Amino acid sequence: MNTSLFFLLLLLLPLLASCIDTKVYIVYLRDNDDIGDKTLQELEEHHLSYLFSVKKVEEQGRSSLIYSYKHSINGFAALLTEEEASQLSDMKDVVKVIPSHERKYSMHTTRSWEFAGLDEELQPSQLDRQDLLLKSQYGKDVIVGMMDSGVWPESESFNDRGMGPIPSSWKGICQTGPDFKKTHCNRKLIGARYYIKGYEAAYGPLNTTTDSRSPRDMDGHGTHTASTVGGQGVPNASALGGFSRGTAFGGAPLARLAIYKVCWPVPNKGKEDGNTCLFEDMLAAFDDAIRDGVHILSVSIGSSSPIDYLQDGLALGALQATKHNILVVCSGGNEGPTPSTVVNTAPWILTVAASSVDRSFDAPIQLGNGQKVKGQSVTPYKLRKRKMYKLVYAEEVVNADVPKTYIPGQCLPGSLSPEKTKGKIVFCLRGNGTRVGKGMEVKRAGGIGYILGNSPANGAELTVDSHVLPATAVTSDDAIQILKYINTTRTRTAYIYPGRTVLQTKPAPKMAAFSSRGPNAITPQILKPDLAAPGLNILAAWTEGNSPTKIATDPRRVKYNILSGTSMACPHVAAAAALLKAIHPDWSSAAIKSALITSAGLLNNAGNHITDASGKKADPFQLGSGHFRPEKAADPGLVYDSSYNDYLLFLCSQGDTKVDPTFICPNATPSAENLNYPSFSFPKLNGKMTVKRTVTNVGGKGSVYFAKVDSPMGISVKVVPPVLHFDRVGEKKSFELTVEANGKKIEKGLYSFGWLSWSDSVHIVRSPIAVSLV
Ligand SMILES: *[C@@H]1O[C@H](CO)[C@@H](O)[C@H](O)[C@H]1NC(C)=O
Ligand SMILES: *[C@@H]1O[C@H](CO)[C@@H](O)[C@H](O)[C@H]1NC(C)=O
Ligand SMILES: *[C@@H]1O[C@H](CO)[C@@H](O)[C@H](O)[C@H]1NC(C)=O
Ligand SMILES: *[C@@H]1O[C@H](CO)[C@@H](O)[C@H](O)[C@H]1NC(C)=O
Repeated sequence: MNTSLFFLLLLLLPLLASCIDTKVYIVYLRDNDDIGDKTLQELEEHHLSYLFSVKKVEEQGRSSLIYSYKHSINGFAALLTEEEASQLSDMKDVVKVIPSHERKYSMHTTRSWEFAGLDEELQPSQLDRQDLLLKSQYGKDVIVGMMDSGVWPESESFNDRGMGPIPSSWKGICQTGPDFKKTHCNRKLIGARYYIKGYEAAYGPLNTTTDSRSPRDMDGHGTHTASTVGGQGVPNASALGGFSRGTAFGGAPLARLAIYKVCWPVPNKGKEDGNTCLFEDMLAAFDDAIRDGVHILSVSIGSSSPIDYLQDGLALGALQATKHNILVVCSGGNEGPTPSTVVNTAPWILTVAASSVDRSFDAPIQLGNGQKVKGQSVTPYKLRKRKMYKLVYAEEVVNADVPKTYIPGQCLPGSLSPEKTKGKIVFCLRGNGTRVGKGMEVKRAGGIGYILGNSPANGAELTVDSHVLPATAVTSDDAIQILKYINTTRTRTAYIYPGRTVLQTKPAPKMAAFSSRGPNAITPQILKPDLAAPGLNILAAWTEGNSPTKIATDPRRVKYNILSGTSMACPHVAAAAALLKAIHPDWSSAAIKSALITSAGLLNNAGNHITDASGKKADPFQLGSGHFRPEKAADPGLVYDSSYNDYLLFLCSQGDTKVDPTFICPNATPSAENLNYPSFSFPKLNGKMTVKRTVTNVGGKGSVYFAKVDSPMGISVKVVPPVLHFDRVGEKKSFELTVEANGKKIEKGLYSFGWLSWSDSVHIVRSPIAVSLV
């Protein structure tokens, strides 16, 4: 036998053995006093000693260790059998063992395929905004960590022109890979790392034709979110079709970016079907980001349904970051409009909902009966001639052999008959399949144009796309009109106008229908989402390693692309937080969070209360305290501050005494409602409840604040004292807020909403109040 082969086999055996029925678990250990003195090597050996004791073979112990966490938590991730996991959880100094494989996280775009390709101006143009940028020096020297799918470093958005030396506090690195060199980092992209061990343990070796074993972004999502936070101004940025040519820039254009790539493609699935971001990889990224010295973390990732905080790697990592005074900003998810869908709801996280901006991409349709129907599109193609073309409903031109189960009008791949489709405009419905994919099918079958009709579930919300042929999208009401025209007319014709960008549309913002809603399913005493920011049809930089539609067969490459999702809203708020951090370097992460929450606005640009996509007044379970207003947040007047210890007390209220073993819960269990949070939620109020809050004066000295209450229906609200006097800056004052059912009938379990505003006539410090009765 060939000895070298034998040697190889020997090495492989323990590895193979450890693959049998093992899954990834996170093991939390008690914080020993001497941990801090251990070198990283010693710490790893310490972690291995636990594995040696459950795995019989030392080599198996070593090969099963995935991460040894060092900076934020004392613990590790390892491949264990169920039995080994249970043995470990019984061992001394093991606090808890969490099965990581039961959590699935992905990036929060509406669906990864809900995309389009073009550019726009990320336009903050008011004077106020200019003031804020000047005051914050454009976020200079604030470091924002991006936990996402990596970065496309060649994008112009990440040039470092005019940026000073890297802050001396920075301890991060530029991790290299086959296509990522040290020189890809610069004074803008000051750090880049990737985390793949958990992914590979779960899915096997990375397929390097679909992604790159480096911080490089082959998806697009990470480049998009990073440039939304800190992209430099890029004049005349333009992509397919040249929609809204202008200067593209991020919210904090001189902030530094540190990239933590934690999301990877799911094998054997198209990229449009999504990526996965693993608990143990994210925890390792938190571990490094804390040590590297980031100030803000922007995380547009989440599970598709709420997870208990103590089983949730993102919440636990964020808690460690909060301990180090790093504000973690997260997307709230895209499972709206269903109630109780909002995720990333831990009180130490700033949770962002998505709204629309005041821009549309008008591409109307002329019907043969003279009717004109509104449409929206960013397709870079237009019909060859200005004339009427034959119009058909997809159902009329399907292949004879489509399965009986096929939902009508879907234009799924292979469903259309080229003979019947050739030269026509085809009307398809949303429902199943990707929006861009339906257009590809029309094109494949020889159609020359495509109208995409919303299903009733999509309502009036139009998400624009970079289609592969002349195309436009219409609301569900308009879809019914077009179907009626088709049904009642023998010779139907239509013309699709080319898309054009229209700015300052009204009313805006509107809440996006896909944006996940409250109440908070894990702790209803904490009102979530916290606030709203733009997340519908948002343009930012894109990877050149993927098409704008993420569909593999789409050969196009763009430098800027439009996406929708709470994923896009999150970096807007992270950028605002970076500007606040630059202006107020001494503020706690909770103070920055409070400032953003209590300064949010409730009016749209038509002067009315912000609505949802269907035109109904949006409530705090949709938009939290309102639409973010960074200019106001810089000078909030008062803040509701809270510390790491306050969050541990909150966890005691949830019956958890273990998350930080150095902390001992008080004998009297605190109530979750009493966390010093800048909003109020009273689920299942039974009669009456009083909570306490403490506000810190960060405005002028000698200020006097008056409470103004807008009571929820059926509830009376009392604030004591109703006036707060502050002699100096930094002074704290407490008040009590009591809610009581006032006898008016309100439906059981249904929430009603009100507001508490403190005002000194310069500042308005506003908090939503949500109450439901038992
Ligand atoms: C890697 O991905 C490519 C493209 O999706 C696919 O064709 C190939 O079969 C994959 N390779 C493996 C080993 O799965
Ligand atoms: C902007 O870019 C386009 C091509 O993308 C070019 O035709 C145009 O001249 C440029 N405009 C300016 C002002 O540089
Ligand atoms: C919708 O599409 C999915 C896969 O894309 C398929 O599994 C499902 O059967 C489709 N539903 C219907 C009713 O056609
Ligand atoms: C059009 O006709 C089809 C069947 O012929 C019917 O199912 C559909 O409801 C009609 N739609 C409208 C909008 O009239």
